[in-house]
Amino acid sequence: MTTPLVARMREFGTTIFAEMSALAAGTGAINLGQGFPDTDGPPEMLEAAREAIATGRNQYPPGPGVPELLDAIAAHQARFYGIQLDPRAQVLVTVGATEAIAATVLALCEPGDEVVTFEPYYDSYAATIALAGAVRRTSVLRFPDFAVDEASLRAAFSGRTRMVLLNSPHNPTGKVFTRAELELVCELAREHDAWVVTDEVYEHLLFDGLQHVPVATLPGMAERTLTISSAGKTFSATGWKVGWVSGPAEAVAAVRTVKQFLTYVGSGPFQPAVALALGLGDEVYAGLSGSLQAKRDLLVSGLRAAGLEVAVPSGTYFVVADAAPLGAVDALEFCRRLPSVAGVVGVPVSVFHDDPEAARTLVRFAFCKADGVLTEAVSRLARAGRER
Ligand SMILES: Cc1ncc(COP(=O)(O)O)c(C=O)c1O
Repeated sequence: MTTPLVARMREFGTTIFAEMSALAAGTGAINLGQGFPDTDGPPEMLEAAREAIATGRNQYPPGPGVPELLDAIAAHQARFYGIQLDPRAQVLVTVGATEAIAATVLALCEPGDEVVTFEPYYDSYAATIALAGAVRRTSVLRFPDFAVDEASLRAAFSGRTRMVLLNSPHNPTGKVFTRAELELVCELAREHDAWVVTDEVYEHLLFDGLQHVPVATLPGMAERTLTISSAGKTFSATGWKVGWVSGPAEAVAAVRTVKQFLTYVGSGPFQPAVALALGLGDEVYAGLSGSLQAKRDLLVSGLRAAGLEVAVPSGTYFVVADAAPLGAVDALEFCRRLPSVAGVVGVPVSVFHDDPEAARTLVRFAFCKADGVLTEAVSRLARAGRER
């Protein structure tokens, strides 16, 4: 028999996160690979989930999401960004942002349609575009500033462009797109009559006083933008997989049509808990980004002390460093060796590229970890650097 996997998915093996987390578990190395925090989210939210389980909210929730969560998502968009949404028609709860991305791409793209995105990209983008039979067209963000290259972005658009899949704050680079960069993307999307699907899962993880700019707030964009987010990052609950998508009613209805046949529903008792969390005070939101900023500084200075060139992130909980001074020639091969060489796990940025040359020696490290863990990780890297 030939290989069971359909041709369009053959370029996607095991995700790098699974491979590197298994490596961390197998070697006991410090896992700065996968982006999950090592502390839990707000205690009130955790209690609300326990309460939901104890009070019988354990069966299928309504397809679009529980009403209090739909209301809370709409209220969140109004509170932070002034975006007005009808929670019953313009919001859909999904199984994490991952399902929101998949259902949106599958709902809006015909086979052969083109999707413009930036590389490096979050790995599910490429796989989802392929699943839909669509074609990805990319523009490269280059280390160390990861600025948008206007010429290559323009060249990525064509008469077949159906969608731009954007992510700011951006994983894996930690880049926050400037307003001018977002406006350029939007101008090109309008010119090509394309949808903008904007993955804003790190919307509350910005540093140095930067403010998040949702694409849907830019002039003329609300009617062609689908905004995706998730409780996983904002409330340090990545395992709950509560995400959502919001936008024009007709487009949300299209996404709902697909979503109901992917999972139908999910995360039942976690939905009311996330509804409660979304309504918590500003200090809860600010507390997370404040503590992450301090962790960013700790990791950045440690990586620099170990001799690495670092791109200082303005958002997310990832930092990209050039590991050439530690002997990296090929980031994937280097990251496979790193646990035995230094007792640390990172993720090669090259796997998020169509053109791996653009990130040949770049490694992504996550800093959503306890300070002691970060300090130990950088001292191990420094030791490995000295021992070369
Ligand atoms: C850019 C980006 N989008 C989406 C996701 C997935 O979010 P979720 O866990 O809510 O599915 C992640 C998780 O790392 C991410 O970094």
